[in-house]
Amino acid sequence: MENKKKIGYAVLGLGIGMAHAEAAAASENADLVALCDLDEARLQKAATLYPDATLYTDAEQLFADPRVDIVSVCLPSAMHADFAVRAMEAGKHVLVEKPVDITCQRAMRIEETRLRTGKRCGVVLQNRFNLNMYPIREAIDSGRLGDLILGTFAVKWYREQRYYDRGGWRGTWEMDGGGSLINQASHTVDLMQWLMGDVESVSSSMKIANHNIKTEDTTVSTVRFKSGALATFVSTTCAYPGVSTEICLYGTAGSIEADADRLKLWKMSEPSGDLDEDEEEEMMLARFGGGNRVAAAKEGKLYGHRHVVEDMILAVRDGRDPQVLPLEGMKSLAVIEAIYRSAKTGETVEL
Ligand SMILES: NC(=O)c1ccc[n+]([C@@H]2O[C@H](COP(=O)([O-])OP(=O)(O)OC[C@H]3O[C@@H](n4cnc5c(N)ncnc54)[C@H](O)[C@@H]3O)[C@@H](O)[C@H]2O)c1
Repeated sequence: MENKKKIGYAVLGLGIGMAHAEAAAASENADLVALCDLDEARLQKAATLYPDATLYTDAEQLFADPRVDIVSVCLPSAMHADFAVRAMEAGKHVLVEKPVDITCQRAMRIEETRLRTGKRCGVVLQNRFNLNMYPIREAIDSGRLGDLILGTFAVKWYREQRYYDRGGWRGTWEMDGGGSLINQASHTVDLMQWLMGDVESVSSSMKIANHNIKTEDTTVSTVRFKSGALATFVSTTCAYPGVSTEICLYGTAGSIEADADRLKLWKMSEPSGDLDEDEEEEMMLARFGGGNRVAAAKEGKLYGHRHVVEDMILAVRDGRDPQVLPLEGMKSLAVIEAIYRSAKTGETVEL
């Protein structure tokens, strides 16, 4: 077998960036060569886990390190485009955390730089690779669910005030781009448009219900799709103690309900093979009802940041694109921007 070179991996920003570091360190195809953060305490903590990685506090020095092939950009959201562009211009491939940036206009700089430099660039939307998403997507693509009529999506999470106080940038328009919707619920906005198709218009309200922040901690939207389907979308960080992530799809030929990575209901009006409706549901819930950890062991697949980081490493090694490109990541960002515009103006916003 061809002996391919190990990819040099670096992580910029060591909050969620620690999940990138763990994934790169676990990969057989990469070496975790460098870590960068302004926060010395975070750097030192990371160094105890990854003593062979070079530590940087200056991103420019990281970008100048010739051993680095890929940089994961895990900085506060409004810094993504700036640092992703600088990394690609310095010759690095880039994996950007979600959201791509806080507006499509800013995120577009990443796409332009990707095209100009020819570097590989992926976006972290790991929930598309939750194990329960494979059969859900298949039920839609194969037509088993029929025509989609309705979706209901609700991200009912909880964040204490100190979560917002600690980060500084969180819950600000300037650095977070919003609150519960763009930060906590952006994955579910992505799943909504990825599963149900292009959004035509949104009509939304938002409020700051129970936190001392400048943006929002609760949003409610009705969503109309180009297909004619409708959906509701709710996001909040006020649902003590953190309740659920509802992803529910109702089609002319069936219904599917999930809570995040757990399949909860699977009702298909047309039987599949030898199984009747109830037997099929029982089989599907046994496979995908226990969440990623349980299903991954059975299905033999990676999920979460392990999946996305490994895909990025293999993309660079094999000279192909990663699974989620910047323009793909910007689709949910466009919906998020439209929801905020609608909530601010009180108008229905067309996309
Ligand atoms: N994919 C996911 O599920 C997921 C989960 C959490 C966060 N995120 C995203 O990841 C990003 C980071 O979120 P977080 O929760 O890790 O934030 P965080 O504040 O915990 O971490 C960001 C880190 O960046 C460092 N930093 C800031 N400016 C820097 C600079 N100029 N040079 C070097 N380091 C710098 C900070 O010191 C901090 O340690 C956000 O965009 C967030 O939306 C994604």
